[in-house]
Amino acid sequence: MLVFARCDFKAACGAGLRPRQSLAMIVLGIETSCDETGVALCGEQGLIAHFLHSQADLHAVYGGVVPELASRDHVQRLLPLLRELLEASGVGREDVGGVAYTAGPGLLGALLVGAAFGRALAWAWDVPAVGVHHLEGHLLAPMLEPQPPSFPFLALLVSGGHTMLVEVSGLGRYRIIGDTLDDAAGEAFDKTAKLLGLGYPGGPAVARLAEVGQSGRFRFPRPMTDRPGLAFSFSGLKTAVLQAWNALPGTEQNRADVARAFEDAVVDTLAIKCERAVAETGLERLVVAGGVGANARLRARLASLGRQLQINVFYPRPEFCTDNAAMIALAGRYRLTRGGTEGLAIRARARWPLEEVEAPR
Ligand code: KG4
Ligand code: ZN
Repeated sequence: MLVFARCDFKAACGAGLRPRQSLAMIVLGIETSCDETGVALCGEQGLIAHFLHSQADLHAVYGGVVPELASRDHVQRLLPLLRELLEASGVGREDVGGVAYTAGPGLLGALLVGAAFGRALAWAWDVPAVGVHHLEGHLLAPMLEPQPPSFPFLALLVSGGHTMLVEVSGLGRYRIIGDTLDDAAGEAFDKTAKLLGLGYPGGPAVARLAEVGQSGRFRFPRPMTDRPGLAFSFSGLKTAVLQAWNALPGTEQNRADVARAFEDAVVDTLAIKCERAVAETGLERLVVAGGVGANARLRARLASLGRQLQINVFYPRPEFCTDNAAMIALAGRYRLTRGGTEGLAIRARARWPLEEVEAPR
């Protein structure tokens, strides 16, 4: 944890620390944990508006995210994006009752931009602010949809940095029951994209190519499914892809067929573990969240698993699977309306285990 700045203004601005617990509270959400700058407004009726600026073009030439460039771009984008959001939504600053920002985990410099911006804004506007765990945002993202899941639920959280099965029993009550031993699912997509010569970000590129690939021509392992348990491991899959691809003439059809076989292996593996986790927990709701949750084949596969197991499967729409500020505004609003208060220090954590997140008291 890094304390960027500590302001001991508590005595002078105590009123600003007290959350306004009105359910009508509109919360401004800010997301800057990686390569997307997001701002959003969430009120009692749900999402009001959101804006997202992707830095994908900025980082594409380097084949991955360059942290310093990400931070600088967040600095430049945040204020204009916020102005645009307020203008487009018709929400005035006096209507905003709280600010939520991603406090971690993520790139420390990038997080600090959002944390400093959010805290300073909240102080200037005399409203409370709360730092939100990025993965809590992902886990709650399906609640932005018209038919939200209720607690408790099982969540498959598949992003660029995480692959987890989480038992979610309430806000801030998370138990990880399956985790990855090495690469995350999104990371496997990104690395496979790189070795197949596709651009960054890799997940959508592999998924697009897999669309025209022939299923069944190659078969890659379904890692860790041959033994009991809910752990994942995706680094071996990448090696299998590399070996298959290197042994083939580099034609477009071969590339597409390899991409399809890779996607099939990831989707199968995730579905097998979800089925086990449902049996183990007895939970009747499954939430799919995080960037890889935008994958059409994974969504279709888990929908059919849901029908087979007679459980309800919930996903955020694809734009809320990947990083966005709407999920941060929503999670922050839940916390602020339940009395979540914090001091004025600007805090960001590059590493922040999900199970350390606290339930509001
Ligand atoms: O949740 P997210 O936007 O950022 C993190 O918090 O990591 O997830 C990004 C990850 C990347 O690895 C990206 O390649 C992957 O999600 N991704 C996809 C798709 N869209 C994004 N993977 C597979 N299929 C997709 N359609
Ligand atoms: Zn994310």
